[in-house]
Formats: sequence, structure tokens, C-alpha cells
Amino acid sequence: MSKNFKVAVLSGDGIGPEVMAEALRVLDAVESQFEVGFERTFANVGGIAIDKEGKALPQGTIDTCKAADAILFGSVGGPKWENLPPDEQPERGALLPLRKIFGLYANLRPAIIFPALTGASSLKEAVISGGFNILVVRELTGGIYFSQPKGVEGEGRERVGIDTMRYSVSEIERICHVAFKAAQKRDGRVVSIDKANVLSTSVLWREVVETVAAEYPEIKLSHMYVDNAAMQLVRNPKQFDVILCENMFGDILSDEAAMLTGSLGMLPSASLAEGSFGMYEPSGGSAPDIAGQGLANPIAQILSASMMLRYSFAMVEAADAIDAAVESVLNQGLRTGDIYQGKADEQKVSTREMGDAIVAALGKGKA
Ligand code: IPM
Ligand code: MG
Repeated sequence: MSKNFKVAVLSGDGIGPEVMAEALRVLDAVESQFEVGFERTFANVGGIAIDKEGKALPQGTIDTCKAADAILFGSVGGPKWENLPPDEQPERGALLPLRKIFGLYANLRPAIIFPALTGASSLKEAVISGGFNILVVRELTGGIYFSQPKGVEGEGRERVGIDTMRYSVSEIERICHVAFKAAQKRDGRVVSIDKANVLSTSVLWREVVETVAAEYPEIKLSHMYVDNAAMQLVRNPKQFDVILCENMFGDILSDEAAMLTGSLGMLPSASLAEGSFGMYEPSGGSAPDIAGQGLANPIAQILSASMMLRYSFAMVEAADAIDAAVESVLNQGLRTGDIYQGKADEQKVSTREMGDAIVAALGKGKA
């Protein structure tokens, strides 16, 4: 009997729908090669949900996600909705509540240089030669993003904006376990980021990280202040394996790490809850300027589907097969516009052609 998984498909705005179409074709291929079924339910999110249903995260979409085993998410936002109040905009109005409602406390953001694309990094060849492979593990449901009190209050020039950064021992502990377990499957090194020379949350953070680390004697742990980490990432990214961060530091450093690869449009991410539920989305944005033209790179969305198989469905073999198929089309020289460098061995392709090639490579890998 083949297994069946329920996937909530939230394509969103901009390039979301067209890159999602390619990821779904890859899932079709996985269905026929591995004994598995993906039952997909589509729901609106972001700007399109505002237009069609009046808000960025309609109740019907939440219900669809609740009935699913995982969420495959495209991207949200665009100029059309930029003038709405911040809380109602597609990004904040959809992403933050999804994270909170589904308890998606562990955000995994790989920053990998694909060997075929080292020329696309903004760093000097000498700094990145041999490539690097960083995993940012970001706490996603606590800290300054969500703690109370929060808001703007008072009158006139005495009005104040307030955000609070708060972390409990239990919140820190559970994200530590995610980082240490991830490191066990990688190079065994964790750098924990904080600002313990200034912030009380960071003092507690460092203390709890040390305590949890005692359960993982084989892991090499070190601590780094966030300002130094921002600098070390551009100085020598190869020194990092797993980077463990609270919510806001992780927001900032994960963008930095992703951009250093030169392939921001190629990187997936996973946001995991306790258990096997998760939401999977590309690290890049909705790119409204190129939407609907067949120019977008579908690889980040396809690799997000691969992470879904790996983390929510325990389909490691299929996930490895997708990752290998992506690597092989890159090695063949296929490039969407964002990663095309005009070299002789490169071939410029559309969103659909890239999807076709990955599906074909997946078929070959299995044969
Ligand atoms: C991200 C984004 C979000 C965040 C925004 C859009 C709310 O920057 O996922 O990194 O800050 O977490
Ligand atoms: Mg961000």
C-alpha cells in the first residue's frame, strides 16, 4: 500500500505560482518513482488572499493548513499592497501568524555555494574556494518579534514605540536541541550567536546553550557576539557549520549568509514545529518585477519541496534524489537568467525548461 501525505499548497504572489508549478511537477515525478501520494489542497495567502478574501491569512487557509501534514509555501508581497498598514501587509499579515499558529519555532536556512556557481558570489574567489555549507538555525516564534509589551503609545513628541525581547529557558532549550542534532548530521560544529555583553536575554541564552551542549559532548560549541558574527561571515564564511541564533539575529544573519552564496534565488528553508509538521518556502522573495514571464528560477521552490520530504515525511531517499537532480542540471550548464553568467558552457533556460530538466534528471537518477 502506498503512503499518502496531505500538502497545503500556498503559492502566494509574484513568481510564487510559476515556481510552485515546477515544484509540483517534481512531486508528480516523486509520486510515480517512489510509492507515495501527495494529496494537494490549494489555498490563498498574501496579496492574492487580500484581493480575493479580504485578508492576508484567511481562516479557510488556516483550516486547510491544519488539515495537512505540511505546508508548501511560495512567496508573498508586492508593490500593490505596500501602502497597507504594516500588520495587514502580505508578509507580516501572513507569515508571522502562520509561524505562531502552527508553533513553527525552528527555522532552518541552509546557505550553500553550488560548485557550478561559485562565480556568482560577491566574495573573492580565494575566500570561497572549495565552497561553503552553512546552516542557520533560527528561533522563529519568540524574542523581539512576538514578546509583549509591544506597540506605539502616548501622545505627541512623547509617543513611544515599544518592543520587548523575552526568552524562556524552555524556548531556548528546544531550539538548542534542533541545532545540536543538525550538527550531528553535519560537521559537528555549532556557533551560538548572542549579544551577552549587553542583553539579559543573551546572558540567559548563553547559559542555557552551555547546559544543553553538555548532552552533546561530541559537538564543538563556541559563542560569538552578533556584531562579530556579521563581520566573520564576510571575512571567512568557511569557518561556520551550524549557526544558532535567536529570532532577530537569525533574520539578519541568514540574509547575509544567503547572499554570500550568490544564489539567493536557489535556497530553500524549513520552519518546523514540534513533531513532523513544517512549512517549506524559498528564502528569496516574490520578485514581482519578473513575475509571469517565465524568467524565475524554480530551484529554491523545488529544494523546499525536497526539505518537506526530508523533514516532514522522512523520505530521505527521495529528497536526496531531488537534490542530486538539481545539482546535475546545474553541472549540465542550465541557467535561468538570475544565475546566467554568459559563459560558453551555459545555456539560458526558462522556468518551465528548468523544471523539465530537473524532472528528467530525477527520472534518470532512479533508472
Ligand atoms: C524572513 C522575513 C520575515 C521575518 C518578515 C517578512 C516578517 O524577513 O522570513 O526572514 O522578518 O522573519
Ligand atoms: Mg528576513
